[in-house]
Amino acid sequence: MTETAFRTHGAGVLTEDHVGQQVTLAGWVHRRRDLGAIVFLDLRDYEGLVQLSCDPEWTPPEVLTLASTLGAETVVQVKGEVVRRPEPGRDQKMRSRNVEVHVVSLRVLSLALTPPVPVSRKEGEELPAEERRLRYRVLDLRRTELQHNLRLRHELLQMARSTLCARGFLEIETPILTKPTPEGARDYLVPSRVHAGEFYALPQSPQIYKQLLMVAGFDRYFQIARCFRDEDLRADRQPEFTQIDLEASFVGREDVFPVVEDVLAALWRVAGHEAIGSFPQLSWHEAMERFGTDKPDLRFGLELEDWTDMVSSTDCAPFLAESLQEGRLRGIRLSEKDAVSRRELEVLTDLAKAEGAGGLLWMRRADNEWAGQGAKLLGGTFRAAMAGTVGEMLLAVSGPDRVTSPALHVVRRWLGARTAAGHEVAHAFAWIVDFPLFERDPATGAHVPAHHPFTAPHPDDVPFLTRDPGRCRAQHYDVVYNGHELGSGSIRITDATVQETIFGLLGLTPEECQRRFGFLLEALQMGAPPHGGFALGFDRIAMLLAGASSLRDVIAFPKTTAARALFEHAPTPLTDAELAAVHLALRPESE
Ligand code: AMO
Repeated sequence: MTETAFRTHGAGVLTEDHVGQQVTLAGWVHRRRDLGAIVFLDLRDYEGLVQLSCDPEWTPPEVLTLASTLGAETVVQVKGEVVRRPEPGRDQKMRSRNVEVHVVSLRVLSLALTPPVPVSRKEGEELPAEERRLRYRVLDLRRTELQHNLRLRHELLQMARSTLCARGFLEIETPILTKPTPEGARDYLVPSRVHAGEFYALPQSPQIYKQLLMVAGFDRYFQIARCFRDEDLRADRQPEFTQIDLEASFVGREDVFPVVEDVLAALWRVAGHEAIGSFPQLSWHEAMERFGTDKPDLRFGLELEDWTDMVSSTDCAPFLAESLQEGRLRGIRLSEKDAVSRRELEVLTDLAKAEGAGGLLWMRRADNEWAGQGAKLLGGTFRAAMAGTVGEMLLAVSGPDRVTSPALHVVRRWLGARTAAGHEVAHAFAWIVDFPLFERDPATGAHVPAHHPFTAPHPDDVPFLTRDPGRCRAQHYDVVYNGHELGSGSIRITDATVQETIFGLLGLTPEECQRRFGFLLEALQMGAPPHGGFALGFDRIAMLLAGASSLRDVIAFPKTTAARALFEHAPTPLTDAELAAVHLALRPESE
C-alpha cells in the first residue's frame, strides 16, 4: 500500500536507486530550514524521513513562497525529482541520507497547530513530561521510538499467533461482558440498561471461559485477550492489558511448558535474540530460599545464605536474639570486588527498611577477623564460626522470612543492577513451580488463593486441603525472566467437589458458590477433560523486548498510574439523565 492515490513512494525508502525518478510523496513537515532563497524541508511519513529541497532553480516561485511558510507537522503532498545529495545527511540511521527531492509542486493537505509536544527533537533534547505527552498522545505517537515500539508489538503479536496456530491451537474469542472472574483484583463493572440493577463485569482474564472451552471439546485454545483489572497500578501494570492466553486438554505441565517456551523463543527471535532453549525449573520454595522472591533474576549469583546456626543468643545483641527466636539470620556474601561503600550501605539499609527490616547488618573481613557494625552485634560466637576471606563483605537481615526475604531480595536486586555489565547471561528464563495453593491475607489471616481458585492442588497434597490447607502445593507455574514475571498458568481443578471445597476454604457459602460459579460447577459435571494452560503478559514482554521502561511506551493509548486516559479524558462523569438510563444515581457523598 505504499503507492496510493496520494503518493508514489514512501519518503524514507528513497535511495540512490531512485535517482532520476519523478516521485509524489505525502507526509508531515518534520523540520524546516530556510537558507536565504532556498528552503529545506524534512518530510516524514510512515517509512521515515527524506530531505526536500525547494530552490529557485527548479521550484516555481509560488511553491517556494508556500514552502517558506510551512509549520512543523503540516501535512503536505509534494512532487519532484530524486537527485543525489551534494553532501549526505548526517543522520546515519536515515536510509534516504544520500538523496533529496527537488520539489516542483507542493500542496497543503492539512494544516497543523503549533505542536504542543515536539515530534522532531535535537540530539540530546529531553522529552517533555510524560503527562503532557499522554495528553497529546497523537503527536507523541509520531515519535520514532513509539512508532518502532508499536511496530515491534505488531510483529510480536503476529508471531505469537502463527506459532500457536502451527501447534494446532484454535483462536477463539471469549466475552468482554461477563460475570466476575476473580484474579485478585477488583472488577470493572458495567451496568445493564435492559436489566435494571444488574451488572456485567469486564473480564480480569478469560480464565473460566477457556476452561469451559476445554469442557466443550476444543482441545487447544488461544486468544490475544484484553483483560481488565481495577487494581493499584505500578509501572509494570495497566488497568487494561493484553495476554497471550492459552489452554489445552489432556495435558500435564510437561505438555504446557514446551508450548510456552516455543512462543517465547519465537518472540525473542523477532527481537533478534536467538537460541533460547528450554528453561530450568525451580520450586517456589527454592526460589524463596535462594533469592527471597518468586521472580528471581538469575543473570547473576549473590544468592541468599542462612547463618542462623552461627549466632548464639547468649553473646549477640538482645534485639537480635529476640528476632531470631522465631526468625532466621539470612544474608548475602559479597566478594572483595563487589563490596559496597559506606554511602552505598546507607542506600541498601533504606531499601531493606522499606521492606520491613529493622536494619541491615554488615561486616567486612579485615585480616583474620570480621569487623563492622554487624560483627559487633552478632557476637563472638558468630565471628568465630563464620568463615571468610580478606576483603569479603556480609550483608544480613534477621527476622521472620516474610521480612528477610523481601528485604534481601531488594538488596540483591540493587547489587545485581550495579553489576549488570558483568552478567554472564543476557536472558535468564526459568519456570517457578510448586507454588503454595494458599497464602494468608496479612490483614485478616484468612486463606486466599496464591493464584486463582481454579488451580488444582498438587495430587499428593489433596488430603491436606481440609486438614492443613497452608501445606498444600499448587499445580501452578510461572515463567520468570531477568527478575520479571512474564506469565502464569496451572493445571486446573476438574472435579466439582474439589472446586467447591476450595471455594468453601475461601469463605464462600454453598449458596454463593452456586450464585457466582454455578455454571462452572455444572460444566465440570458434564465430563471435564483434564486441562491446563497459561497466560503471558504481552505488554510486559513487548516492553522488555522494545527496551522500554514503561508499559505505556508499548501501548498506543495507555492509562496513567492513576488509571486515567489523558488524551480522551476517561473516566468521565455522567449526567443524571445518562445515569438514570442505566438505572443508577450517585449517592450524595460520592458526588
Ligand atoms: P495472571 O493473573 O498471573 O494469570 O496474569 C498473567 C500475566 O499477565 C500479566 N499481567 C499484567 N500485565 C499488565 N498489567 C496488569 N495489570 C497485569 N496483570 C497481570 C503478567 C502476568 O504474569 N488466568 C491466569 C492465567 C492462567 O492461569 O492461565 C492469569 O490471568 O505478566
